[in-house]
Amino acid sequence: LSMHHGNVRWKQITSLLKQKGEVTDNMEYSCSGRNLTHIPNSLPFTVMSLDFSFNFLSSLHKCAFPVLVNLQVLDLTRCHIKHIENDTFYNVKNLTTLILTGNPITYFGPGCLNSLHNLQRLVLVDVGLSSLQLQMNNLTKLQELRVGTNNIQSMSLPPFMSTFKDFSLLDLHANNISIIKTDDTVVLREIGRNMTLILSRNLLLHIEPGAFKDIYLKEFHIQSSFVSLNAQKECLEALTGLSVDKLFIGSYRMQWKVKVSNGSYLDGLLKKGYIKSMEYIPFHRLKELYLGPTTLSAVPLISHIPSLEKLVFVDLSGNFLILKDCCSQFFQRTPNIHYMNFSQNTEIGIADKPFSGLDLLEVLDLHRTKLVLVFYFGFLHGLKNLKYLDISYTSITFTRQMIFQNLNNLTVLKMAGNSFHGDALSYLLQNLTCLEVLALSHCGIEEISRRSFIGTQKIRYLYLSQNKLMILDFLALPNLKQLTSLYVDKNSITSIPLHVLQKLPTNLSEFDLSSNPIDCSCSQTDFIWWIIHNQNMLKQPENIFCKTTDFRATDFDIDSCVHKKRLTIVLSVCFVTVVVLLSFLVYRFQFYLQYCSILLRGYRSPGQQECSYDAFVIFSSYDEVWVMNELMENLENSVPPIQLCLHMRDFQAGKSIASNIIDEGIMGSRKIIVVVSQHFIDSAWCRFEFELAQSRFMMERSANIIIIILEDVEERKTKKVFELHKHLKKNTYLKWSRDPLSNMRFWMRLRKAILDH
Ligand SMILES: *[C@@H]1O[C@H](CO)[C@@H](O)[C@H](O)[C@H]1NC(C)=O
Ligand SMILES: *[C@@H]1O[C@H](CO)[C@@H](O)[C@H](O)[C@H]1NC(C)=O
Ligand SMILES: *[C@@H]1O[C@H](CO)[C@@H](O)[C@H](O)[C@H]1NC(C)=O
Ligand SMILES: *[C@@H]1O[C@H](CO)[C@@H](O)[C@H](O)[C@H]1NC(C)=O
Ligand SMILES: *[C@@H]1O[C@H](CO)[C@@H](O)[C@H](O)[C@H]1NC(C)=O
Ligand SMILES: *[C@@H]1O[C@H](CO)[C@@H](O)[C@H](O)[C@H]1NC(C)=O
Ligand SMILES: *[C@@H]1O[C@H](CO)[C@@H](O)[C@H](O)[C@H]1NC(C)=O
Ligand SMILES: *[C@@H]1O[C@H](CO)[C@@H](O)[C@H](O)[C@H]1NC(C)=O
Ligand SMILES: *[C@@H]1O[C@H](CO)[C@@H](O)[C@H](O)[C@H]1NC(C)=O
Repeated sequence: LSMHHGNVRWKQITSLLKQKGEVTDNMEYSCSGRNLTHIPNSLPFTVMSLDFSFNFLSSLHKCAFPVLVNLQVLDLTRCHIKHIENDTFYNVKNLTTLILTGNPITYFGPGCLNSLHNLQRLVLVDVGLSSLQLQMNNLTKLQELRVGTNNIQSMSLPPFMSTFKDFSLLDLHANNISIIKTDDTVVLREIGRNMTLILSRNLLLHIEPGAFKDIYLKEFHIQSSFVSLNAQKECLEALTGLSVDKLFIGSYRMQWKVKVSNGSYLDGLLKKGYIKSMEYIPFHRLKELYLGPTTLSAVPLISHIPSLEKLVFVDLSGNFLILKDCCSQFFQRTPNIHYMNFSQNTEIGIADKPFSGLDLLEVLDLHRTKLVLVFYFGFLHGLKNLKYLDISYTSITFTRQMIFQNLNNLTVLKMAGNSFHGDALSYLLQNLTCLEVLALSHCGIEEISRRSFIGTQKIRYLYLSQNKLMILDFLALPNLKQLTSLYVDKNSITSIPLHVLQKLPTNLSEFDLSSNPIDCSCSQTDFIWWIIHNQNMLKQPENIFCKTTDFRATDFDIDSCVHKKRLTIVLSVCFVTVVVLLSFLVYRFQFYLQYCSILLRGYRSPGQQECSYDAFVIFSSYDEVWVMNELMENLENSVPPIQLCLHMRDFQAGKSIASNIIDEGIMGSRKIIVVVSQHFIDSAWCRFEFELAQSRFMMERSANIIIIILEDVEERKTKKVFELHKHLKKNTYLKWSRDPLSNMRFWMRLRKAILDH
C-alpha cells in the first residue's frame, strides 16, 4: 500500500517537475529537497542521472533502489543517511558517480562500495570518515576520490589502489592530517602519474624528510595547511625531491602575519628582501607557482627553480606587496618564465629594464597594481615574445615616449583606467602590428586621431567604454577593417555621420553604443534608421537612449520626420517658385511698380494738380536735334509761349529717372507729346514713358496724348510698342513734314492740340 501511495506521489512529482522544467529529459531527474523518505520504484528504466539530495533516507539497504541499470550519476547529498548496508548499491551497480556528501554515516557496510565496478567519482565529503582504508578493491576505474572535511588523520591509501590505472585526484582538504610519514606516500609514489593532491586546510606539523621524494604531482594544493610558520618552514623543506607542475601555496585566511623583523618567511623558498644564495632546491620541475592570497610582502626568491614557467602572484586581500626595485633581480635564473601575474598588489617600483632576461615571457599581468615607473622609457624592454600585457589601472600617464617599442608579438594590450598626456595616443600604438585586442576604457579619451591605428591593422576587439568620445570618424579608416567588436558605451556620442556608418568594418558584429546622449532629431534620421535596423549587431540596444527625452532611440518614429521633411521640401519649392516669379514680375514691371508706389504715396489727383508744364515731350535722344531746333524753337518762342518739359533740361538732378518721368514729366504736364520715330520705337525708355503716359490718361479719357510722326515707321514695328498701333488707328496724329505749307499747318494744329482743354 505504501509503495502504491509512493507511486502516485512520484507521478505527481514528476509531472510537477516536468511542468517546472526540472526533468530535463527522460534521462535526468531531480527531486531535490522534497522530503521524500524513499526512492520511488516507478522511476523509468532509462534514468541516467538522479538528484535525490536533501531528502530523508535514514538507512540504505538492498531494496532502497529499484533496478536502474542505466543510472550513472546518483546524488544523495544531505539525506540524513546513517546506515549503509553491504548490498545497498546492488540494483544500481553501473554508477559512475556517487555523491554522499553531508550524511552522518555511522555504519558503512564493509563491502557496500564493491558492487560499483564502474565507479569513477566517489564523493564522501563530510561523512564522518576517519580513515582512507575503505573496502573498495573492486573500484578499479576510480578516478577521483573526494574525502574533504572528515576526520582523516593519515593520508595513507590502501595498497590495492596502486593498481587503479585512472586514479588522478585525491582531495583531502580540511581533514586532521598532522603528520606525513614515508610509509603514507608509498601508494602515491607507485601511482606515479599526473595526480592532483589537495592537502589544503589540514594541520600539518611534520613531514618526514624524503616522504615526497620521487613523487610527481600535476597539482599540489597546500594553502593554509600548516599549524605554524615553523611547521611550514620545516614541512616545505621536507618536500625535497617532489616534482610539481602547479603549486598552490598561501593562506586562505590571514592566520600568520609575517613579522618583517623576522626577515624569513618561507625559508629556503620565500624570503623577504634580497637573498644572496639558496641552500637547496625543494622542488624539481616546478612549472607553475601560485602565491596567494598570501601575507607576503615581497617576491619570493625563486631563482633556484629554472624550470618555472608560470608565476602567479595574487594578492586579493588588498595587501601588501610593495616592491621598490622590480624585477629582473628576482628572476635571474628563471629564464623560462612564460607567465607572470602580479595583479592586484599595492605598489611596484619599476627600475631600469625590469624584465630583462625574461625573454620568453608571454603573459604579463600587472593590473590594479600601482606602478611607480622610474624609467618609463625602457619599461618593457626586451619582452620581444610578449603576447599579453595587462597594465589596466596602474596609474600610468602615457606620454609620447616609445613605451611599446619592439613588442612585435603583442596581441592583447589592456591599459584601461590610465591616462594620456596630450596626443600621446596617436603615437604609442604605431609599432604594435600584431595587436588584436586593445582595451582603452576609462582613460578620459576625448578624441582619437586618424593616426592612432596606422600600424595596428589587425585589431579585432576595441574597448573604449567610459571615455569622453564625441566623434567616431576613425572607424571609417581602412586600418580597422578587421574589427569585429567595438565598445563605446558610456561616452558622449550624439551621432555618427552617414559616411562613417557606410564605411564601418565589414565584419563588425558587436557594437556597444549604449549610454550615450544620442541626438534623436529629424536631422539624424540616417543614424537612427541605422540603429533601428542594426539591433542584432548592437549590444544592449534597449539602453540606447535619446539625449533630451527618456525615449529609446529604437522607438523613435522616423516616419514623422519623413512627413515633416516632405512638407518642408514642398513648402520650400513653393516659396522659391513664388520668389522667382515675383522677382521676375518685379523686374519686368519695375517702372510700373515705381509708378504705383508713387501713386500710393498719396499723389494729388491729376485734375486738381497744378501743372508746371504745358506738355511733356517723349522722344528718343537721337531725335534731340529736331526737338531742340524745331519743336522747342517753335513752341516756346511763340505767343503765348508753351512751356515744354524736356528731360535733359527740366529733370531734377539727384532724383531717379523714373521719379523724374513721373513727377516732372507725366504728372507735372498737362499734355504729352510723343515724337515717334525709328529710334523711338527702339528705345526702351521711350516705350516706358509712353506706356506710363497712357496709364495716366487712361483714367482721364481725354485726348491728352499728342502723337507726332517724325518719320515713317513700318506698321509691323509700331506693334512693338504697347498700344501705339491701336492709338494711331483710333486717334488722329500729326505728321511732320519738311514741306513749308504742311509745316505751317503742322505747327498750328500742334499748338491747338496743346492749348486745347
Ligand atoms: C518538509 O518537511 C518539513 C517539516 O518536516 C516542512 O517544514 C517543509 O515545508 C517540507 N518541505 C517540503 C518541500 O514539503
Ligand atoms: C559485508 O561484506 C563483507 C565482505 O564484502 C563481509 O565480510 C561482511 O560480513 C558483510 N556483512 C554483512 C552484514 O553481510
Ligand atoms: C568484487 O569483485 C570480485 C571479482 O570480480 C567478485 O568476485 C566480488 O563478488 C566483487 N564484490 C562485490 C561486492 O561485488
Ligand atoms: C585530530 O587528531 C588528533 C590526534 O592526532 C586528535 O587528538 C584530535 O582530537 C583530532 N581532532 C579532531 C577534530 O578530530
Ligand atoms: C601527464 O599529463 C600530460 C598532459 O596532461 C601528459 O602529456 C603526460 O604524459 C602525463 N604524464 C603521465 C605520467 O601520465
Ligand atoms: C592574474 O590573476 C588574477 C587574479 O587571480 C586573475 O583574475 C587574472 O585573470 C590573472 N591574469 C591572467 C592573464 O591570467
Ligand atoms: C617604431 O619602430 C621604429 C623602428 O624600430 C622606431 O624608430 C620608432 O621609434 C618606433 N615607434 C614607436 C612609437 O615605438
Ligand atoms: C615573435 O615575433 C618574431 C618576429 O617578429 C617571431 O620570429 C617569433 O617567433 C615570435 N614569437 C612568438 C612566441 O610568437
Ligand atoms: C571577415 O570574416 C571572414 C570570415 O571570418 C574572413 O574571411 C574575412 O577575411 C574577414 N574580413 C576582413 C575584412 O577581415
